[in-house]
Order: sequence, then structure tokens, then C-alpha cells
Amino acid sequence: MSEYTNPNLILETAKLEPGEVTWRSPSNLAIIKYWGKHGRQLPKNPSISLTLSSAFTDTKLEYKPKESGDNAISLKFFFHEEENEPFRQRLVGFLEGVKDIFPFLGQLDLTIHSGNSFPHSSGIASSASAMSALALCLCSLEDRFFETLDDDEEFDRKASYVARLGSGSACRSIYPVAALWGEYSEVPGSSDLYAVPMKEHIHETFQHFHDDILIVSSKPKKVGSSAGHNLMENNPFAEVRYADARRRLHFLLEAMKKGDLETFGNIAENEALTLHGLMMSGNPSYILMQPGTISVIDRIREYRAETGNPVYFSLDAGPNVHVLYPEDIIHEVRPFIEEELLPFCEESTWLQDWVGEGPVEL
Ligand code: DP6
Repeated sequence: MSEYTNPNLILETAKLEPGEVTWRSPSNLAIIKYWGKHGRQLPKNPSISLTLSSAFTDTKLEYKPKESGDNAISLKFFFHEEENEPFRQRLVGFLEGVKDIFPFLGQLDLTIHSGNSFPHSSGIASSASAMSALALCLCSLEDRFFETLDDDEEFDRKASYVARLGSGSACRSIYPVAALWGEYSEVPGSSDLYAVPMKEHIHETFQHFHDDILIVSSKPKKVGSSAGHNLMENNPFAEVRYADARRRLHFLLEAMKKGDLETFGNIAENEALTLHGLMMSGNPSYILMQPGTISVIDRIREYRAETGNPVYFSLDAGPNVHVLYPEDIIHEVRPFIEEELLPFCEESTWLQDWVGEGPVEL
């Protein structure tokens, strides 16, 4: 049961014309990381992220009245125009799980066409963009059928809630520029159930920030995020970590408001290394960084010391490195990346990304 459970959202299918809805939704980069969860996709600590731009998923959801009389989810799934059974099964599980929120899903034959802007073997995590795009499609369907979500704020909040059920980090992709997920006393309205928009609390500098993603390795991860979250349950440092994330968030919010790049960058780097430290200190322990990850990190720190330019790194749960810097030094940083960092990347692969304005309906 969720607070969005609504048994009244049932269609008169005899009157329903087939249709479709499409959303483009971006990925996001957490600065304070979500790592550790409980209950039905609830975070152990609040997290905050920058919404990205060029890493996105397009999802088209087609529907028509169901031919069979049962109430089970009926789904065809195409990823980059090819049927993909493992993804389909994951989505059927998700859609079955949200039928208490959208009971009309059991009355439809559904087809999803989904694709990412980045090569799907690039090692860039896509659950945030994919699950947020799908959640937005579901909310659009509800609004189209029942006119229940005409208030934008309510639409976004519900989309964020539903995205969270698909993948925790996805709930933050709904909002432009930056979003915070998890109850935090300093941010009124914040909740463990959905993310809240933070654009209004973020200095201009961060609204145009760059996050170039360097692909050190595109191989599938040895340990996925869900297993990683679970391993936090018996990690001896877990409680210290959750308290520290809250403590840091206070300073990060202040820095993001003021445009204090140094404090922002130090916290971002520390969070990235803490995330990987937690993986290394769990039982069983594991390492997702590659030699190239460390080389890139070292080189970024040296470059910062040599030039004084505010270039920082972050990591997700994988070997690839996010290079963070403000717009005004782009012409110095891009050549540095190309000449000195790309040699550590797989086939010199990178994705130039920046802070963006959030999802759009296509
Ligand atoms: C390291 O959101 O992928 O990227 O809720 O199990 O789908 P699930 O996990 P997921 O975890 C993301 C973890 C992270 C940090 C973050 O984005 O906050």
C-alpha cells in the first residue's frame, strides 16, 4: 500500500482509443550519495544530485484496451528497437508493483520503446533516466485518462514517488538543475518518499556546471547497485556513514547556495571516495575502481594544484569518472581532459555533459 493507492483509477475500456505518450528524462549525478536503503525503497540518508542533460533516456509508452480478460501486466518491450527479455521482466515486476497506484495498467496492452542517448554498453548507469522516464509516462497516462494531475507540482511529486519505486536515484531526475531526496530538517517539505526541487537554492555557478563522464571501463559491474545497497546492512561503518552524510549535507547546501566551489568540490570528492570505501569495507568486500580510475583522479588533483582551476571529480558505483567544473574554465579544461585524461579511458570514450533543465514530454 502506498499513499498514492487509488482503486478508483479504472477505465471504461470500451470507450478507449489506442494512444501513446513519450518522455525524455535525464540521468543525474549525486553529490551526497544514496547508499543504503530499507523498507520499500527508502533511503538511509538524504542525498542531493545535479540533474544532467546529454545523458538521457527516451521512453515511448503505447497502450490499447487489452484483448485478454485478465488483470496481469501485458507488456512488449523494445530497447533500441530490439526486444530485450531481461529488461522486459524487470519492468513487468515494476509495473505489477505499481498497480495499486495505477490500477488501469492491468486493463491495457502496453508496448514500451526505450533508448538511451549514450551507447548502452558505455558503462553509464541508466536506471535513473530510464525509470524516471517511465514514471513520467505513467503519470501522463493517469492525467490523460482521469485528469487527476493537472497541477504541475503534484504531477512531478507523484512522478518522483513512482520513479523511486523503480530505482531510488531516479526520483531525483524529475527536477531541473538539482534535487534532494530524503527527509532533512533543513529543507522544508523534504521526504523519504520523493525528491524535492532545489534549483531555487542553488547558486548560478552550479546551474551551468559541467560534468564530463570519462569511460574508464564499459564492462558490466561485478556487483550491481541493489546488491551494494544490501551489503550496507552489515557494514560496520554504516551508522557512522549515514550520520556523516547528514552532517556533510549541511555544509554542501551552504556551499551550493553561496557558489563556494572549494567546499563543494572537497565534499563531492570525499563522497565519491567514501562510497567506494564502503564497498571496500563491506563483507564480502569488492572494488569497482580500475587502475585508470585512480590515474584520472591523481591527474585531476595534480592539475588543480598546478593551475588553481576548480576541477573536481566524482564517481558513481563504477569505474568511470565524472569531471566537474564551472562553465567559465571550459576552454582550459576540455584540452586538459583530451590530452591528459582520455588516454586512461576505454577507446578514449567520454560523454560531455552539463547541468540541465530536467525531463521533457516529446
Ligand atoms: C551510487 O538508485 O541505482 O548512484 O534504488 O537499488 O535502483 P536502486 O539503486 P540506485 O543507486 C544509486 C547509487 C549511487 C548514488 C546515488 O545516485 O545517489
